[in-house]
Order: sequence, then structure tokens, then C-alpha cells
Amino acid sequence: MARSVAQQLAFRPATPDDAPFAADVMTALFPRSPWDPVSLRYWWSQPDESMEIARFIVLRSERPIGFAHIDHARWDVQAERYASIWGDFTPAERSGDLLSAFLAAMEERLRADGARTIRVRAEEDDLLRIDAILARGYKEDRRHKRWELDLLANRGALLAMTDESRLRMRKEGVELLTLADDRDPDVIRKVWRLSEEAGDDVPTTMPRVPEAMESYVRWTRAPEIHRDRFWIARIADDVVGVSVLGYPPVRGIVGTEWTATARSVRGRGIARALKCETLAQAITLGIDRVRTGNDSANAPILHINETMGYHLTPASISYLRPI
Ligand SMILES: CC(C)(COP(=O)(O)OP(=O)(O)OC[C@H]1O[C@@H](n2cnc3c(N)ncnc32)[C@H](O)[C@@H]1OP(=O)(O)O)[C@@H](O)C(=O)NCCC(=O)NCCS
Repeated sequence: MARSVAQQLAFRPATPDDAPFAADVMTALFPRSPWDPVSLRYWWSQPDESMEIARFIVLRSERPIGFAHIDHARWDVQAERYASIWGDFTPAERSGDLLSAFLAAMEERLRADGARTIRVRAEEDDLLRIDAILARGYKEDRRHKRWELDLLANRGALLAMTDESRLRMRKEGVELLTLADDRDPDVIRKVWRLSEEAGDDVPTTMPRVPEAMESYVRWTRAPEIHRDRFWIARIADDVVGVSVLGYPPVRGIVGTEWTATARSVRGRGIARALKCETLAQAITLGIDRVRTGNDSANAPILHINETMGYHLTPASISYLRPI
């Protein structure tokens, strides 16, 4: 059966103009987590210094029924040769056989490309996809916890925590401000350096590849990022922390894109204080809820989220398979 499905499929290279279709596919499959077409188009238009990426529209009888995306770091920057498969199908077309045929086709391309281990993800309650993944010999690797915070129900507690954090930061000489209010011409380089240091502390199985500053700059210019909602912490000349909520321009839930502090200042409440600023601002902007996600082994950020009132929503699972 899977074989005959495979024979019906064609893969045409995708362009940024196809991104809204991919966003629609994911939104139709998981209405609880809509994908933003404008943000996705932006990301599909960007180059990358260290990643090799290929995207396809999957066709059956010349009709688009889904999309596929494969990527891996250049082998000269990631000798372990991990690669990832992303993509899915419209709810009307989706089946276990189709998912299996799609995985097989992408695995074949990655094998030819020299990959050694393939990663694929599924929502923990997406049994159809999980079954297709397990049937192809993948094993669960890690879980990515997801959280949601009701800003209406928790408004009072969050604003009180924000006041307390501001007081603590003032006492300790930590300044909290947005990129829009920062006057240091070197600020982006400093936030990037800090993010590179902290990036190495995020629990992961796939080795993290260093991010070029140009790539970081592209993130700060993405449609979901606003300079006046991009919070940083400073101690004198040094940038020691960052926390940013992404605001999807067309549809989707506002969510934390990145929170990090310098190793030298950890445990002093700076991450909590930055997150509080992002949330107090979201409350002022009339946002009713926000989301975040983190690896299930990342103890400090899990602790911060729990104590800020976030509740868990379905996690995503990463699977690995050597090829
Ligand atoms: C996660 C991170 C931002 C926390 O920064 P921080 O400045 O140390 O955070 P804070 O001081 O505000 O709060 C840390 C809290 O975690 C607690 N904590 C620290 N280590 C912990 C552990 N192993 N288990 C449980 N709680 C822990 C601290 O006691 C503190 O709790 P409290 O506020 O109740 O006292 C920082 O460790 C980091 O940059 N990590 C790498 C990047 C990352 O993982 N980012 C988040 C994922 S996207």
C-alpha cells in the first residue's frame, strides 16, 4: 500500500511563494497552534550561513497536498551528520501510508546527501504521525515541553511579580530596557555573543551549530519581532540577558522566542525579571495568553515557567533514527 502511495507522489521544489500554503496546511492540522503565513514566507526567503535546506511541495495528480522540508548543518560544521525532516499534509489527504511514503522519500534524499542520523518530530497526541514514525524504526529521543499562560487570570500575580523584580534589579544595578531604547551601536553584537554563550547551555542531543551574527540579525528583523518588545538586561556596558516574545503578524499565538542570561549572572533573578517585562508589556498590549516551550531537561527555565503560572499543553517529541 505505502509503495503504491509513494508512486503517486511528486516533489516539486518550493519557493517562498509556497510558504502561505505550508502555513495553511499546519494551521488546518493543528488549529490550536496556527502558523503565520507572513513570518513563514520571511523565513523561507532567508539564506543561511551554516544550514543546507531543501523544501518541496508534495503533489498527487499534480495537486498540492502537503509540503516537505529537510535540513542539516553543513557537514564541515557538524561532523556528526544529523539531519531533520519536517512537513505534513492537509487533513483531507493525510494518512499513515502517506506519512510513511513521505518519510521514506525524504530519508532517501538525506541518505544520498551523506546524513548519518535523522530527526523527525511529532506532537505527543498525534498518534497517526507517531505510528508512522515508529514503524520506520525511529526511537524517541527528547521531549519539548510546551506551556501556556493565561494573562487575564494571572494578571494581578504577574504585575506584582514584575514590581518585585524591578525593585530587585534596581537594587542590584541591572537595567532592563528594550532594543528600541538602547543607544549602544554595538548592542546587537553583544546580544548575539550572549546568545551564543547561552545557546550552548540548552540541553540537546543534536550538537548545536554556532550561529553567525548575520543570521541573528535576520531574526531581529523578522516580521514577528519588534525592537520595542525586545527586552535586554544590562550591567553597565555589558548585555547580560535577553527575553523576547514573538508577535505573529497575521495569525498565531504570541510566544517566547528566546530567553537567555550570561553565565556570570545566573541565579540572580534576571531571566525572571526580563520575562516579567515581556509579559507586562503583552498585558498592556491587550494580549490574553502567551506560549513558551523548552526542553524537558532544562530545569531552570521549567522552574521559572511553573512559578510564573504557565500550565502545560501537549508536548512535542523528537525521534531519531540512524541511516
Ligand atoms: C534558563 C536561564 C535563562 C535562567 O537564567 P537565570 O538568570 O539564572 O534565571 P533566574 O535567576 O531568573 O531564575 C532561575 C530560577 O531557576 C532556579 N534554578 C536554577 N537551577 C535550577 C535547577 N537545576 N532546578 C530547578 N530550579 C533551578 C533558580 O533557583 C531560580 O529560581 P527562583 O527564581 O525561584 O529563585 C539561563 O540558565 C540560560 O540562559 N540558560 C541557557 C539558555 C536557555 O536554556 N534558555 C531557555 C530555553 S529557550
